[in-house]
Parts: sequence; C-alpha cells; structure tokens
Amino acid sequence: MKIGICGTGRMGSSIAQRLISVGHQVGVWNRNPAKTKPLVDAGAKLFPSPAELVEANDMVVVMLLNDAASEAVYRAPNGILKSRLTGKLVIDMSTVRPDTMISIGGAVASQGAAFVECPVGGSTGPAREGKLLGLVGGEKADVAKAMPVLEQLCRRIEHVGPLGSGATLKLAVNLPLLVYWQALGEALAICKPLNLPADRLIDILSDTAGTPTAMKGRGAVIARALGGAPPAETAFGISAAKKDLATAVQFARSIHAELPVAASALACFEEAEAAGQGEADATTVSVRWAQHPKPTPT
Ligand SMILES: NC(=O)c1ccc[n+]([C@@H]2O[C@H](COP(=O)([O-])OP(=O)(O)OC[C@H]3O[C@@H](n4cnc5c(N)ncnc54)[C@H](OP(=O)(O)O)[C@@H]3O)[C@@H](O)[C@H]2O)c1
Repeated sequence: MKIGICGTGRMGSSIAQRLISVGHQVGVWNRNPAKTKPLVDAGAKLFPSPAELVEANDMVVVMLLNDAASEAVYRAPNGILKSRLTGKLVIDMSTVRPDTMISIGGAVASQGAAFVECPVGGSTGPAREGKLLGLVGGEKADVAKAMPVLEQLCRRIEHVGPLGSGATLKLAVNLPLLVYWQALGEALAICKPLNLPADRLIDILSDTAGTPTAMKGRGAVIARALGGAPPAETAFGISAAKKDLATAVQFARSIHAELPVAASALACFEEAEAAGQGEADATTVSVRWAQHPKPTPT
C-alpha cells in the first residue's frame, strides 16, 4: 500500500520506519525537509507539500506536535484540506485537544474521506517495533478501513468512541506518567541525605508497586544522569510533555473538573522549559528536581 507520513519528527519517523520495514511504499512530508533524509535514504519518497502527499498516496498517517501544527498543516494553502480527498483515508496519531480532532476530522469527512484519530501510548522504540497502544476515535466503518495498518503499528487497539474520544483517553494515559516524573524527582530529593549511589537508589525505588512500566526503559537513563552523565537522547521532550499536561488541565476545566496535582506538575514542566530544557527528555524533570529541589514557582 502507498502510505504518506505527514510529520517526520521523532514519532512520525519511527512510524515511517515501521511501515517501510513491513513492506509499504512510504511517502513523507515534513515542515523541515532535512528531517526526512534518513527515511528517504531508506527508500521513502519526499513530497513538497501535505496536499501532494495526500494525492499521491492511498492513505496518510499524520503525526504532528500540537494543535497549532495540526491547524497549520490541514488548513494551509497547500495543506491536507486543499487536496483531492475523496476516497482517501487519514489516520491522525497526534496528541491534540479532543475538539481539534472533531473539527479537523469533520472537515476531512465533509470532503469524502475517512478520518480516524489514533493517538498512541508508547514512544519511539515501540513505534519502530509496531507495539504502540492505539486509542481510537471515529466512525465504525472508517475504523474498519484503518485497522489493517493500525494492526501493523500497534500491539493493542482500543476503539473507545466517536472522534475526540481517543484524544481524551490519550490525555488521561499521559497524565499519571508525567506526574510520576516530577514525583520521582521529589522522592529522590528526600533521599539526598542518604548518599546512596544513584543506580542503587533507582533500583530500589523501581522495585515497588508505585513504579510505572516506563521505569524499565528509563530508570537506567535517570540513574546515569543523576551520576552526572551527559543527557540521553530525547524520546519524549519536556515541551511536548508540558503541552500534554496543559491540554489535560484545559480540557478538564471545559468539562468542569479540576486537576490540582496535574496543574502542579505542569508548573514544574513549565519551569524546566523556561530554563531552556524544552528539548530534553521528559525524565530530565526528575533529575532536575532531585538536584535542585525548591518550591514550585507561583
Ligand atoms: N515522543 C514520544 O514518545 C511520543 C509518544 C506518544 C505520542 N507522542 C505525540 O506525538 C506527536 C509528535 O511527537 P514527537 O515526539 O514526534 O515530536 P517532535 O519530534 O517534536 O516532532 C513534531 C513534528 O511536528 C511538526 N511540527 C511542529 N510544529 C509544526 C508547525 N507549526 N507546522 C508544521 N509542522 C509542525 C514538526 O515539524 P519540524 O520537524 O519541521 O519541526 C515535526 O514533524 C506529539 O503530539 C506527541 O505528544 C509522542
């Protein structure tokens, strides 16, 4: 199948690699075309605009940073909504506000294309291995069309309701994990007087019921960073994590719910971003707090 990937950042590139590895003909577009080079070297075809990407492929997987990126890429003069969409399938895997999925999905559907949202749990490693958690929203018939490709990308696919449902569940999935990175920093801060080696401390803290599975992959990275090693490669950046927490807090308010713990964690991520660490991995928040614990700024 000819599949276009719209947005080849960390996740879009990993998804493109996966689709190439299972035998699809992959086309790519990215705002900064330099980021498509490794994929083009691996056999992907580069397109000059989102509209041309859509028209030349049977379906398109969209993986963009945030709401602003989605608005830009769908609604630009050479954007997705300006292409001949009839009969196409668009799967949007970005983590954005539920109402963004509803409005973009409605605009795509009104032009005769199928639209499915499928924000994902799991990072670049699971994306390359086809082991993401797919949180799907959309019409049943559209989801059925997307299933064969989703099954090549995901270890588990949950169709949880109409458009906006997948986006809502994705915000819920990320919330406890992002709060955990800040909470881990606070746990490490109170262990400072013990003077234990970082790898031993992380090993003990990881062997407990309160530890997320993400620590299996990230625990050693955090221990090394606590020991002064240079930062590890970013899998999920602080700015993107901050965006997810901010989106969850805003969305909760829109349905008359408050998220006091998430709001406090958000302030800590905002502070790390303001200190110039936006591109660092989200786990840097734990290390930062362990090394410089202080009250959250108001
Ligand atoms: N990384 C993870 O572990 C992970 C896991 C699950 C879900 N997610 C979600 O997946 C999405 C992508 O994350 P990522 O880690 O791949 O981020 P990333 O590496 O920062 O890539 C972001 C992508 O969005 C594009 N973009 C940003 N602003 C844009 C704009 N105004 N116009 C056009 N394109 C724009 C970037 O283009 P340029 O290259 O030109 O900047 C790039 O293609 C996010 O919604 C994130 O929350 C990430």
